[in-house]
Amino acid sequence: MSLVIAIDGPAAAGKGTLARRLAAHFGLPYLDTGLLYRATGRRVLDSGGNPHDAATAEAAARALQAGDLERGDLRTLEAGAAASAVAAIPGVRAALFDFQRSFGAAHGAVLDGRDIGTKIFPDAPVKLFVTASAAARGQRRYLELIGRGTAADLAGVTREIEARDLADSTRTTDPLIPADDAMQLDTTPLDADSTFAAALALIEEKMGKCTLLKNMQR
Ligand code: DC
Repeated sequence: MSLVIAIDGPAAAGKGTLARRLAAHFGLPYLDTGLLYRATGRRVLDSGGNPHDAATAEAAARALQAGDLERGDLRTLEAGAAASAVAAIPGVRAALFDFQRSFGAAHGAVLDGRDIGTKIFPDAPVKLFVTASAAARGQRRYLELIGRGTAADLAGVTREIEARDLADSTRTTDPLIPADDAMQLDTTPLDADSTFAAALALIEEKMGKCTLLKNMQR
């Protein structure tokens, strides 16, 4: 049996960096599932469509190609807003389900997103729900944008993140909520190294208590 680590949480909480490091540590493949929604949103925007339109968005999700995930314009605020809009459409989520499930089912994986522990891998033996204050998340996303040479203002970025989290948490289909059996990690006071150390401690503690989990490590 293979190890699946499900990492969920709001925007800019540190999920991606943590997931990548856990994947390297455990020798598992990593999938940033937000990229699937960002690429779908981008396809809709490229065609001049409305990301809130169900038929257009579902067709874009079904037409996704591997190359769509390599695009350099998926990390912009515009792509994030379009991703959140298409992600609220049940047909889009259904279209992307099998890919995510097969990615982790065969050999195990670390996946990060909003519904990994609740919908994609409700059976994952390790689930982390990673949060941080809106101020900390706004600051991180702001620095990330500035670091990439994108003009941004801190208050605007923080507002955008809060609006997106509200939309992601209150949508009807697969909203952002912690799975009942998720371990919570608040990264507000933590840098990337301490976040990794804290997550590893939680996972190892869980593994120590569970023989089945120990056997899942590759
Ligand atoms: O993680 P991210 O910021 O790249 O995600 C972009 C949007 O995609 C996010 O606002 C909500 C949506 N999303 C989702 O609904 N489910 C996922 N598993 C991952 C992302």
